[in-house]
Amino acid sequence: MRPSALIPVLCCAAALILSFLCLFAGHKKGFMENYHLITLNTSAIGETLLNETRSSDNPLANLLDQIPNEISSEINDRIGEVAERLGIEDWYSAHMLNYCYGQYTPAEAANATISESDISKNVTGCSKSQAMYKFDPTRIIEDALNKTTGVNVTLQDLDWPEDIQNGIHALNALMAAMFVLYVIAICLIFVALLAAIFAILASGRLSACLNFLVATVAFIAIGLASALVTAVIVKGSSIINKYGNDIGVVANWGSKFLALTWAATAVMLIALLAWIVEFCIGRRHKNRQSYAKHG
Ligand SMILES: *[C@@H]1O[C@H](CO)[C@@H](O)[C@H](O)[C@H]1NC(C)=O
Ligand SMILES: *[C@@H]1O[C@H](CO)[C@@H](O)[C@H](O)[C@H]1NC(C)=O
Ligand SMILES: *[C@@H]1O[C@H](CO)[C@@H](O)[C@H](O)[C@H]1NC(C)=O
Ligand SMILES: *[C@@H]1O[C@H](CO)[C@@H](O)[C@H](O)[C@H]1NC(C)=O
Repeated sequence: MRPSALIPVLCCAAALILSFLCLFAGHKKGFMENYHLITLNTSAIGETLLNETRSSDNPLANLLDQIPNEISSEINDRIGEVAERLGIEDWYSAHMLNYCYGQYTPAEAANATISESDISKNVTGCSKSQAMYKFDPTRIIEDALNKTTGVNVTLQDLDWPEDIQNGIHALNALMAAMFVLYVIAICLIFVALLAAIFAILASGRLSACLNFLVATVAFIAIGLASALVTAVIVKGSSIINKYGNDIGVVANWGSKFLALTWAATAVMLIALLAWIVEFCIGRRHKNRQSYAKHG
C-alpha cells in the first residue's frame, strides 16, 4: 500500500476533468460559452458597411438605401442595428469543437446607464460539434448577408482586408494542431491516472519511477497544448484587431479558457512533483533499511 499516491491520483483526476472541459467548453448552446478561444465583436460592422456602400454600386447598397440615414449619425446609441438588419450577429466565438454566435444584451456597447460588466452574451446558436472544424468568420458573414439580401456578396464587396483572411487561415491550421495535442494530452493524463491508482496498491521504487515518467510525458503534452493555445489566441486576436478594427471587427481572446488550460497544467505539475518526492522518500527509506541491516 502507498497512501501517499492518493495525491497524484487526485491531481491527475483534476487535470483530466479540466482538460476535458477545455475540449468541450462551448460545444453546445449555453455550455461554458465564456470559455471561448476567441470572440469577434462584429456589432459595429454594419456602420462600416453603411459608410462604404452609400456611395458605391455595391450589391449591398440597394438594401442599405432602405435604412434611414440618421442611424449613422447616432452610431453610439444604435450601434448594432444595421448589422442586425443585415442578419449579422453581434458576436462570433470560436471554441475547440465549434463556434457560437449571438447578441449582446442588454446593449452592444456600454453607455451612461449600462456599464461594461452588465453586458453579457446571449447565445443564438452554435454550429455542430466537429473535430478540426474551420472557424471562418468571413464565410459566416458572407453567408449571413447572402441569406438576408439574396445577392452574392463577396470579400471585395465587404472591403474585408486580405490580411485578416490570411490570419484566419493560419489560425485554422494551428487550431487543428491544438485539437490533436489536447487529445494526446487527455490520453496521457488518463494513463497517468491509471498508473497512479495502480501505484496505491503496488509500492516500490519501480512503480514510482514509471509513474514519474508517465506523469512527465503527460505534463509536457498538456503544457505544450496550453502554450500553443496561448500563443495562437493572443497572436491571432492581435492580427485580427490590427486589420479588422477599420472594418468594425474587434477580437478578444478568452482569458477564462487560458485559466482552465493552465490550471490543468499546474495540477499535472503537482502530480509530477509528488512523484519526485515519493521517489526521494522511497530512496531514503531504503537507505535507512540497509543501514539497519548492516550497521
Ligand atoms: C461613417 O462616416 C461618418 C461620416 O461620413 C463618420 O463620422 C463615421 O465615423 C463613419 N463611421 C465608421 C464606422 O467608419
Ligand atoms: C463591441 O465593439 C464596439 C466597437 O467596435 C464597442 O463599442 C463595444 O463596446 C463592444 N462590445 C463589447 C461587449 O465588447
Ligand atoms: C444606454 O443603452 C440602452 C440600451 O440601448 C438605452 O436604453 C439607454 O437609454 C442608454 N442610455 C443612455 C444614457 O444613452
Ligand atoms: C436572449 O435572446 C432571446 C431571443 O433570441 C430572447 O428571447 C431572450 O430574452 C434573450 N435573453 C436575454 C437575457 O436578453
